[in-house]
Amino acid sequence: MSTAGKVIKCKAAVAWEPSKPLSLEEIEVAPPKAHEVRLKMVSSGVCGTDNSVLHQKMITPFPVILGHEGLGVVESVGEGVTNVKPGDKVIPLFVPECGQCRGCNSPNSNVCVKLDFGSGEHAGLMYDGTSRFSCKGKLIHNFAGTSTFTEYTVVSDISIAKVDANAPVEACLIGCGFGTGYGAAINTAKVTKGSSCAVFGLGGVGFSAIAGCKDAGASQIIGVGSHKEKFPKAMAMGATECVNTKDLEKPIHEVICEMTNGGVDFAIECAGHIPTMMTALQSTYPCNGVAVLMGVASPKDTMPLHPGLLLTGRTLKGSVYGGRRFAQKKKSMSC
Ligand SMILES: NC(=O)c1ccc[n+]([C@@H]2O[C@H](COP(=O)([O-])OP(=O)(O)OC[C@H]3O[C@@H](n4cnc5c(N)ncnc54)[C@H](O)[C@@H]3O)[C@@H](O)[C@H]2O)c1
Ligand SMILES: [Zn+2]
Ligand SMILES: [Zn+2]
Repeated sequence: MSTAGKVIKCKAAVAWEPSKPLSLEEIEVAPPKAHEVRLKMVSSGVCGTDNSVLHQKMITPFPVILGHEGLGVVESVGEGVTNVKPGDKVIPLFVPECGQCRGCNSPNSNVCVKLDFGSGEHAGLMYDGTSRFSCKGKLIHNFAGTSTFTEYTVVSDISIAKVDANAPVEACLIGCGFGTGYGAAINTAKVTKGSSCAVFGLGGVGFSAIAGCKDAGASQIIGVGSHKEKFPKAMAMGATECVNTKDLEKPIHEVICEMTNGGVDFAIECAGHIPTMMTALQSTYPCNGVAVLMGVASPKDTMPLHPGLLLTGRTLKGSVYGGRRFAQKKKSMSC
């Protein structure tokens, strides 16, 4: 029996309050309105950012259904949706692509003005200012226009990419972790053949950044982490060596500079800590090193940056979503 046009009751992991365990609840998911798509989720990953939101390191309204890297199948579409149809396998995109704004129309940006990172007028809501989720009579917010920790979700038609019908469950990781780390190396850092790289933070994003550095042809890739049990995975993803921050008797950046004849060409921070961000910058070669920050810091954090660190030619960049675009094939960035 078709569920199109009807409210669907299903299970979801709801975050009622910050820093409390998620609660498995029966929720109601309203049908998609115009230019919206309702998805039956196939799989979802857990990204460090979900944890950051839960613990208010990144602010977004509660109660909320977290999760932003998922794979789903289109259950029904609202009026005016032309890019996907019921039955299509898709990935929700937490960075939308409206195709109209300054960011969407710049070949040097992948960030759409409609990106919901928790602070805008419609934070945690659909673009009409309402929610499609409710539970026990209460409105439940979405996270970054995606919300994948649920059996059904509703996303805007500018926040969706069709994928191959045979895409495996692991393809959900393209929605954030894998594509974000890999893309940071390829699209943002623009790692070059034969270069030296250091990747700080050996989680899902860091491992994927290592894979990006390897595919870009880097000849030295140093994985930097504090848990040595993660080193074999880092090596399997392409690291040529790993440094345990717990074993060092001098500052990490000094060790990295000694290992690389003065500093790496590219450093990518995937831990989300201000000291690690500073270390990443200080680990780059002073004349032309590039440091890319991907980790999410809390709103109160600031970086104690001395301009002298940049004066001789270092570049400090940020990267969201690995600099990727999905829907607008006319743009030059790679997925
Ligand atoms: N910019 C983006 O688009 C984007 C997208 C996804 C995730 N993120 C952010 O990237 C970061 C990593 O995400 P993840 O999913 O890989 O998280 P994760 O928790 O899987 O991995 C983080 C890793 O960093 C390590 N770490 C913590 N402190 C460290 C330190 N001082 N030095 C070295 N390693 C340290 C942890 O042990 C862990 O292995 C988070 O801050 C997340 O919010 C950003
Ligand atoms: Zn846009
Ligand atoms: Zn993420």
